[in-house]
Amino acid sequence: MRPNSPLLFRNPALMTLLIVVSIGGYLGASFFTAAPSEPKNITGDPRAWPQRAQQSLLSPNEEVRVSAILEQLTIEQKVGQLIVGDISTIEPKDLVDYPLGAILAGGNSAPGEKAYAEMEPWLNTADAYYTAALSNQNVEQPIPPLFGTDAVHGHNNVLGAVIFPHNIGLGAANDTAIVERIGAMTARALAATGHDWTFAPTVAVAEDPRWGRAYESYSQDPERVRVLSRAFVKGLQSEPIGNGMILGTAKHFIADGGTKGGRDRGDARIPEPYLANVHGAGYYGALESDVGTIMGSFSSWNGTKIHAHKYLLTDILRGRMAFNGFVVSDWNAHAQIPGCSVDDCPLAINAGIDMLMSPWDAKDLYQSVLRAAQSGKISEQRLNEAVKRILSVKLKIGLLDGTMPSARPGARDKEALSGSAAQALGREAVRSSLVLLKNEDGLLPLPSAPSKITVIGQAADSFSNQSGGWTLTWQAREIAKEHFPFGATLIDGLQNHPASRDQDILFDPDDSQRTLPDIAIVVLAEPSYAEYQGDTKSLRVPRQNRAALNALDRLSKADIPTVCVILSGRPLWIEKLIPKTQALVAAWLPGSQAGGIADVLLGETEQGMPVDFSGTMPIRWPKDRLFAVKDDEEILFPIGYGLSYN
Ligand code: BGC
Ligand code: BGC
Repeated sequence: MRPNSPLLFRNPALMTLLIVVSIGGYLGASFFTAAPSEPKNITGDPRAWPQRAQQSLLSPNEEVRVSAILEQLTIEQKVGQLIVGDISTIEPKDLVDYPLGAILAGGNSAPGEKAYAEMEPWLNTADAYYTAALSNQNVEQPIPPLFGTDAVHGHNNVLGAVIFPHNIGLGAANDTAIVERIGAMTARALAATGHDWTFAPTVAVAEDPRWGRAYESYSQDPERVRVLSRAFVKGLQSEPIGNGMILGTAKHFIADGGTKGGRDRGDARIPEPYLANVHGAGYYGALESDVGTIMGSFSSWNGTKIHAHKYLLTDILRGRMAFNGFVVSDWNAHAQIPGCSVDDCPLAINAGIDMLMSPWDAKDLYQSVLRAAQSGKISEQRLNEAVKRILSVKLKIGLLDGTMPSARPGARDKEALSGSAAQALGREAVRSSLVLLKNEDGLLPLPSAPSKITVIGQAADSFSNQSGGWTLTWQAREIAKEHFPFGATLIDGLQNHPASRDQDILFDPDDSQRTLPDIAIVVLAEPSYAEYQGDTKSLRVPRQNRAALNALDRLSKADIPTVCVILSGRPLWIEKLIPKTQALVAAWLPGSQAGGIADVLLGETEQGMPVDFSGTMPIRWPKDRLFAVKDDEEILFPIGYGLSYN
């Protein structure tokens, strides 16, 4: 050994020690990560999380009442409260043997054969579960179930309902008043069909646009997410309808938008202060409006699944954040915890999940939770705590003193689903969500003098493209014009607008006529997607736009001025396309009222009131070939960017 080699290598005793310690450490670490029943929680510094004041959800009298109810419940009923099953697998009559705490209709579930239904079948379904639960002769004190759904941009599984812009567009609008009004209108729409619970708002901060749920996030700016989440929950939960109020859900706790590579259900590898400050923001906002439920995230934090993360679900959420509602799990997410399966997971309940979402296996899960409660794997104290939280929320929203869904105030409120006020609110929200990225020589607003305008791009006439996922069906792929009797596509909006009466507007979706108009409007879009199905490796303008992209080349060579409108749930790689177009508009996923886009392009409403662009970029728009960007050099349009006519 060379004399100058470090001390360690010259000393056999030290070296042996080092080897022993590292093998021990390695075994220790792998022992912890492999152990199925005891995931290793990262318990960092809780002081990263602002401390909210602890406050009981109930008044002293209500406390007494809930405790009295709790005492009357059988262990079977208590276990039932901890489970929410889907209408596709649980029938109303099942609630006698399986007294579940809630029923949901997932993105592809609705009464009848389709993934969506009209108001009346929804209301009948709500009544059927409610009545079945309350007519249970086996128990002294039957408890009515909650009826939940994903009303995430309007009441989106109801045929004919107005669909609002997805959150990313509302983040561009950055207008708390509009978001609050959308929350209130959504609450009314839910009461109309007998629902009392929506799994909204998503309060994620989408850091990487590759994420298939980036459009469900208001913004990459935690402050926008905080104030808009607060506004939505305020609007939603303060409408005095249903049995008293409609219940919201802040989701998906926590850092669903912070996963590596933007992978849905992935892992957020970030330090605790960052987790708290960036991804906690939306929860603090929703809590300021007393959100009643919080949904866990499929994803992990530094390798541990959130659904198993006692430190986050209990110490932080209940301690530092002082959340006093109940925590619901996501769609079979517990099954992804090592050591758990779809129908067995006491671990999630012990970590702090109060209600397990079990779309297909609710009956088997009920049996296993019952066994765990009987054997003490779930302690009596933990069982009672979870049930008490669920009952408290039910009491708070009036469900324990209420009536059958169809007899509740606001039932059959068709106006809230599709009436003129709902349509106008949708259209107004669309107008405020648009971001003007370029407007060379003041090409926009479109001239009112007679001129020839050609609109190119299939997406200009597609509800699927303009609405995105979670529209009538989960992925929103098979939806057609006839499903939106109260809506308008972009081409409808342009052609039917009073301000375009002197224009000659031609729709040539594939540019087959190769016109040379005075102005062309080229519409680019993403196909609709939801959740992990929307995860992507590239932000290239998708293939469906080939004809439109070719048209852009052709028109720019012919010196025809073009306006390019992008319908997308996230930034796309458009750097090379910008020089080919005179005006560029990010329109996000506006939903069913795309007449609002026509208003702003034409510079006035249908009533002749002047309108301007007011939206600003909610997310950093990367240059080509980049994704999650922070550095100015890499950003095409920063957060806050947006032009206007003035
Ligand atoms: C989604 C949630 C949704 C739930 C119920 C899950 O797959 O992640 O956002 O609320 O399904 O549809
Ligand atoms: C459901 C959605 C759910 C998804 C997740 C779909 O079939 O309709 O609600 O989020 O599955 O797997």
